[in-house]
Amino acid sequence: MTTDSASGHSAPFFGSQRDFWWNEDFVGLVVERLGLTGTRSVLDVGCGLGHWSRVLSRVLPAVSEITGIDPEGAWVRQARLVDADRGRPIQASVDRGWGERLPYPDARFDLVTCQTVLIHVADVPTVLREMCRVVQPGGTVLVAEPNNLAGQLVRSSVSAQNDPEALASSIHFYATCEAGKIKVGEGNTSVGDLLPGYFAEAGLDLVGCYLSDKSSPLWPPYSSPEQAALVRAIEAAAEDERCPWNRDEARRYFLAGGGSEAAFAEAWSTRVRAVQADLAAVQSGSFWSGGGQLMYLVGGQKRPTVKQPTTES
Ligand SMILES: C[S@@+](CC[C@H](N)C(=O)[O-])C[C@H]1O[C@@H](n2cnc3c(N)ncnc32)[C@H](O)[C@@H]1O
Repeated sequence: MTTDSASGHSAPFFGSQRDFWWNEDFVGLVVERLGLTGTRSVLDVGCGLGHWSRVLSRVLPAVSEITGIDPEGAWVRQARLVDADRGRPIQASVDRGWGERLPYPDARFDLVTCQTVLIHVADVPTVLREMCRVVQPGGTVLVAEPNNLAGQLVRSSVSAQNDPEALASSIHFYATCEAGKIKVGEGNTSVGDLLPGYFAEAGLDLVGCYLSDKSSPLWPPYSSPEQAALVRAIEAAAEDERCPWNRDEARRYFLAGGGSEAAFAEAWSTRVRAVQADLAAVQSGSFWSGGGQLMYLVGGQKRPTVKQPTTES
């Protein structure tokens, strides 16, 4: 579902903590490993506000053109794909459209990419086939998608106090919502694990499957810009009661995933108490965590077209 409002798809996740998602030297290393240093034209599918494009614009040394595309009118208007202070000019533009039907000719781009978009789509193979269609033969499809279920295992100084049953309940709640989200056609929040198979189905040769080396550690006094951004995200989650979805979304996913109303009510109040406990611990300076996450960066190459030898008669 899309809206044209300023609070579009994924808006709660576009806080300033998103500027700190990657170690750029790591993304630069992946650029080298995948042989992308000569990349000139890039398509960023589901570009949102342009966070991923901006990272790529800094680590692709030869890039001269970045195109973003997103179904959300608000993001098309507001996206910024390139840093304003960049020395070398990069042509940037944003179109409105869907990954399932990319409005570009075959073989239009050197690199076609997306970040945390496939976790939202019902039909991943169709989007990947479209991405493969518009990349040039020998070009690369590069996808950054997580396993978000794994995040339930990451401990903080607060959750480390919980007993094993509380951990199991938290995983069960998230896994039930995840199953329901898939069922209602809004994507698999842990799709990152499945990318190698999807790439093969789309006719892409897997050339690299990596995990981001970035975690989001938090410890008092939370003084770095990144830590301040993470604290703001905890404050916002507690204020809006998002765990990580809002109540209506989570209820819809949980019920679709086979959970009962009664189980939802109990699990939801536990989760809201947990985000409030996190905030209280931050406010008293007793919250810390290594902030691990499981984010894949997967590259696949479109097979170069092989010219058939002509037979002389
Ligand atoms: C979590 S945001 C990611 C934005 C951006 N890629 C980033 O990482 O900052 C997901 C984005 O995918 C877009 N989106 C959702 N469904 C889509 C689809 N079927 N095709 C293309 N984009 C889609 C949303 O509008 C949203 O901007």
